[in-house]
Amino acid sequence: MNRYVIAGNWKMNMTQGEVFNFSENYCINCDDSLNINVKKIICVSYPLLTYAMRELSGFGIDVGAQNVSEHSHGAYTGEVSAKILESVDVKYCIVGHSERRQYFGDTDEIIKQKWMQLRSERINPIICVGETLEERESNKTFDVIKRQIETIFKGVELKAGEDMMIAYEPVWAIGTGKTATPEIAQEVHKYIRELLVDIYGKHAGSIPLLYGGSVKPENIKELLEQDDINGALIGGASLDAKGYAEMVKVASETV
Ligand code: PGA
Repeated sequence: MNRYVIAGNWKMNMTQGEVFNFSENYCINCDDSLNINVKKIICVSYPLLTYAMRELSGFGIDVGAQNVSEHSHGAYTGEVSAKILESVDVKYCIVGHSERRQYFGDTDEIIKQKWMQLRSERINPIICVGETLEERESNKTFDVIKRQIETIFKGVELKAGEDMMIAYEPVWAIGTGKTATPEIAQEVHKYIRELLVDIYGKHAGSIPLLYGGSVKPENIKELLEQDDINGALIGGASLDAKGYAEMVKVASETV
C-alpha cells in the first residue's frame, strides 16, 4: 500500500544529459530500501519519456507525461495522442495543469476530453485544479473548485479499480515560492474530497489528492501530515535529485 505519492513535474526543463545526471545523483542520495511504500512518479517532456524510463525505473520511479491531445489521432501537427503515449508504456499523465489552462487555452471541457483519451488507453491521469490569486482574493476559491470538479467529473462513471489522482494547485502558489499554509491546503482538499464523494459515493474517498505549489524538502512534512493530503506534485524542487530523494524520505517517515 502506497501511503503517499511524490510526483515531480519537470515542465520544460531537463535535457537528456541532465536526466542522466539526475539519475546518478538520485542513486547517491536515495535509500529506496526505506521507502517502498511511497509511490514515486516524475513527469517529463515527451522526447525524454523512454530515456527517463530507462534511467529511473531501477529506482522504482514511474515516468509520466505532462499533457496529451484531446483528439484520438489524425492531422494535429505537434500533438501527442494517448495511444502514442500508451505505445511507449506511459502509465501516468498530468492533465489540466494551470500553465496549460493559462497559456494554451485548456478549459475544463478540454481537460475532460483529455482524461477520456487517457482513460481509453488505461493511462492514469493526474488531474489538476486550483484557483488564481484574483479568485482567492475575491472569495471565489470554493466556487472555482466546484465548477472545475463538476465539469470534469459529472456524467463520467468511475470504473472499478480505476486509478487516478487529483492535484490541488493554487495558481498563486506555483513557482512563486508562496506555499499555501497546510491549513489552507487541507481546507480545499477536504472540500474536493466531499465533492467527489457527492458525485461518486463513498469509495471516491480513496482517490489520492495531491497538493502542488512551491512544495520543497523544508515544507513537505507539514503538508503531508494533513488528513486529506495524500501526496505532492512538485515542480521546481523536483529538478534536484537530492531534494527529490529527501522529499521521498520525508514521505516514507510521515505517518
Ligand atoms: P512548483 O510547481 O513546485 O515549482 O511551484 C508545481 C507545479 O506546477 O506542478
